[in-house]
Amino acid sequence: CGDEERMGEKEMEVVLKTLPMEKLPEGIDPCFYERHWYRSKFIHGSIKFQEHFKAQDTDLILATFPKSGTTWLKALTFTIANRNNYPVSESPLLTTNPHDLVPFLEVDVYGKNPILKLEDLPSPRVLGTHMPYSALPISIKDSNCRVVYLCRNLLDMFISYRHFAAKLSNTPFDPSLIEESFDMFCRGVSSYGPFWDHVLEYWKASQERPDKVLFLKYEDMKEDPISHFKVLAKFMGLPFSAEEESQGVIEEVLKLCSFNNLKDLEVNKNEKTRRGNPCSMFFRKGEVGDWANYLTPSMLERINKLMEEKFAGSGLNF
Ligand code: A3P
Repeated sequence: CGDEERMGEKEMEVVLKTLPMEKLPEGIDPCFYERHWYRSKFIHGSIKFQEHFKAQDTDLILATFPKSGTTWLKALTFTIANRNNYPVSESPLLTTNPHDLVPFLEVDVYGKNPILKLEDLPSPRVLGTHMPYSALPISIKDSNCRVVYLCRNLLDMFISYRHFAAKLSNTPFDPSLIEESFDMFCRGVSSYGPFWDHVLEYWKASQERPDKVLFLKYEDMKEDPISHFKVLAKFMGLPFSAEEESQGVIEEVLKLCSFNNLKDLEVNKNEKTRRGNPCSMFFRKGEVGDWANYLTPSMLERINKLMEEKFAGSGLNF
């Protein structure tokens, strides 16, 4: 389009250069924009997403803090939404990484090098984001579209991110960097942080609009997947029928989307996503409690105190 759009772009570039920045020890450089830290690489796309996205009532938005189980949630919701189009034995998940089936809005659609257009997605659209609730485009809050938030124990998420960031930076994982990363995390500095604000904003929205915002926990889903998948499908407006239940469809979804199954697929072992990342980097251990192998008692004490303070009175327990 015309000059107006280009002027907007130029102004944005100028504003972006003035944002406060930090550097995480693993090499990622978040910048601070309107009360939250964003990955600098994606701030441009985040603002474009905020300004231009028009939600449809049938959209499903998957929101997560990075490393909270986004890949799993994308696989699950894609399978639930498309279960009448593909039998599980012919699922696109068998040959395509979940991130290529469910794009990140601020990266894959509105980012500087988009890999797809919204028009090309089948309806109902399933879309991902790491943006905080307060930063989501107005149309998501004003429309009838639904939002699913998946939250994970912050210690496991924190450790998972350290491994992921090392892979992003093409360097071996270095445990000696954990202490400094941890200190920054506790000061709120992390991609899409502060963590507590991210979680609390979605938590509050799920309390205020339970029919539109569903709040799930990774650990609960791991412990009792079947009942959580039922809740998820119902929330999506696509509940499993009694017939499907008796035919074992939920168990099939569970098996297809399980960590071990996805991790061992040829596509996820040896291929790259459309964005060019090795698919294998999204599958590490998929366990609960791996943090205990890395964090010291004093770190635990510090974070527990901080979380008690931040989550006091919210009704949300970690
Ligand atoms: P670990 O690094 O602890 O193993 P995200 O998908 O938000 O990037 O989060 C990645 C984390 O989810 C990684 O955790 C990864 O191993 C785990 N994960 C990926 N696929 C999963 C699945 N199908 N089920 C459970 N966990 C999964």
